Amino acid sequence: MKVATALASAAIEPREARLLLAEACGFSEASVLAHPERELPAAAASGFAAMAARRRAGEPIAYILGRREFYGLMLAVSPAVLIPRPETELLVELALERRPSTVLDLGTGCGAIALAIKQVLPQARVVAVDASAAALVLAQRNAARHSLAIDLRHGLWFAPVAGERFDLIVGNPPYVAEGDPHLAQGDVRFEPRAALVAGPDGLESIRDIVGQAKNFLAPGGWLLLEHGLGQETAVRQLLASCGFDAIATWPDLAGIARVSGGRLKSD
Ligand SMILES: C[S@@+](CC[C@H](N)C(=O)[O-])C[C@H]1O[C@@H](n2cnc3c(N)ncnc32)[C@H](O)[C@@H]1O
Repeated sequence: MKVATALASAAIEPREARLLLAEACGFSEASVLAHPERELPAAAASGFAAMAARRRAGEPIAYILGRREFYGLMLAVSPAVLIPRPETELLVELALERRPSTVLDLGTGCGAIALAIKQVLPQARVVAVDASAAALVLAQRNAARHSLAIDLRHGLWFAPVAGERFDLIVGNPPYVAEGDPHLAQGDVRFEPRAALVAGPDGLESIRDIVGQAKNFLAPGGWLLLEHGLGQETAVRQLLASCGFDAIATWPDLAGIARVSGGRLKSD
């Protein structure tokens, strides 16, 4: 079968078809585009057909390829972790602006936020926690692949860092409300529920984290959390009632309030 025939018969979005075909053949995407007349080896044609069928069934392209780029780092991903989103890069930018020496990333998943920070601030001590052992296996693989030494810990939020304090705590915790119709649409259908859902109003994890954060922050330390559409007022109120000042919300590139945070008040 020729490249052009395979692409046309895939019945998926053309850009995604080219990506998957390049993966199946070991060619670059540019080469797939430049040589539509090229004859495909049988193994590549059947590998591509299998990947296209998975995509037609709705599986996210990142899980099919087993990777996703985040903040310039190519990261291994699997259905054990949330697929890192471009909008989460805002949280990384806000973290870097604060030039912390010690950072805690809560709910690290494949390690995206922690590794992005460590890449830019190699002298910083970066600890990353997740409740999912399978996620930490991937985070470890990503850390090794990029030679970035982060300290991965298994457990619930602050339990693995008892007695420690950080200049900065960041997190992209689960923040979708149970029963949210978006859970039945698109890529999120394939992502781990424990990475997405946080109680009836989506704020359960954020409440947990904000409520405990002051016990794990150095004096004047910052807490920055990604949250969902329309949650910024509730998150700011929580921060105000838990000992934070300089409370603010930052919009992502689409203009959606995406990250809220504050600085621990000094007594
Ligand atoms: C929305 S995902 C974020 C993944 C990654 N940080 C990112 O931004 O792409 C939330 C992560 O929090 C983890 N998580 C959920 N509840 C947790 C808990 N109680 N303690 C620690 N991690 C938790 C999940 O396993 C998941 O990896």
